[in-house]
Amino acid sequence: MGFKTAIIGGGGRVGSNAAFALQLGKIVREIHLIDVNADMAAGEALDLLHGASFCADQVITSGTTAEAADADVVCITAGSRRKPDESRLDLINRNVSIFKGILEDLKAANLKKDAIIFVVSNPVDVLTRLAREHLDWCPKRVIGLGTVLDTSRFCSMIADAKGLPASQVRALILGEHGDSMTPIWSSAQVGGVALTSVLSANEQRQIFERTRGSGAEVIKRKGGAGYAVGLTIAEVIHSIALDQRRVLPVSSQMSGQYGVRSVALSIPTVVGRSGVLDTYTPELWPKEVAGIRKSAQALDATWKQLG
Ligand SMILES: NC(=O)c1ccc[n+]([C@@H]2O[C@H](COP(=O)([O-])OP(=O)(O)OC[C@H]3O[C@@H](n4cnc5c(N)ncnc54)[C@H](O)[C@@H]3O)[C@@H](O)[C@H]2O)c1
Repeated sequence: MGFKTAIIGGGGRVGSNAAFALQLGKIVREIHLIDVNADMAAGEALDLLHGASFCADQVITSGTTAEAADADVVCITAGSRRKPDESRLDLINRNVSIFKGILEDLKAANLKKDAIIFVVSNPVDVLTRLAREHLDWCPKRVIGLGTVLDTSRFCSMIADAKGLPASQVRALILGEHGDSMTPIWSSAQVGGVALTSVLSANEQRQIFERTRGSGAEVIKRKGGAGYAVGLTIAEVIHSIALDQRRVLPVSSQMSGQYGVRSVALSIPTVVGRSGVLDTYTPELWPKEVAGIRKSAQALDATWKQLG
């Protein structure tokens, strides 16, 4: 049997862009789109299916959460987007009740015990923790997209600002996918060369500020993120499907890394067929560690506000 991905919210922009990236990736066998707007999910699935003859031999369907029972990855992108001037944490009140309903549907679907729950909906770190606790799922098999998109944006914008090759830039964003995200300049490099020797302190500050504001910028200009988030979702799912063990800054439940417990946030994580295989805690500058701890505090404070 091939690898099956279900996308809940698959009729929306993020879910459908992720499905397209998975189609172009030609790795997963089955893509199943679920959405409360069943017509949109059916339309997106049909549009993808129409391209199958020029792309890959995949099974592309739409339907119910019950039909996701045999999924290997359940990716949740359902929920409201941010308004232009709204923080991701402000979304919580609107998205938590939608999300709890989806988790109830997943309980009823009787998922495979080794399925990976992959959360994308915002606020992603809080909803990742909620998914783990509400489903009582193994922490290693609950992953949030975390700062993977921020990291991709950061590398791409560094490359764009300096005319560097984007695929050779390696610069992490860790912590919360939100206002307290932390740039990791201590290990940032291009082709093995430290980026701190390539970029002035002022350039570093400007590029990070633009990265942190990227989500809001894209919402303001085109309504919401799509292509880049779709690519990053596919990157995580491919690492699971192929057991690639790629090191990605996904969000998962912390158990003492950098002194952080209980909350889910992003640190370098080995992602493979059984989810989180390992996490790394490289030595960071003190202000970077402080940034991650600040994210943990912000996320825990939000968690405590949940009803
Ligand atoms: N983690 C990240 O890096 C990241 C990046 C971009 C967007 N997001 C988040 O992804 C989410 C989706 O964004 P979007 O732009 O695709 O929004 P969208 O409005 O285009 O799509 C959301 C979809 O969810 C569906 N939906 C709502 N309730 C549902 C339910 N109970 N069951 C099934 N489907 C349901 C809607 O019908 C809609 O099709 C938002 O929360 C957004 O903030 C996360």
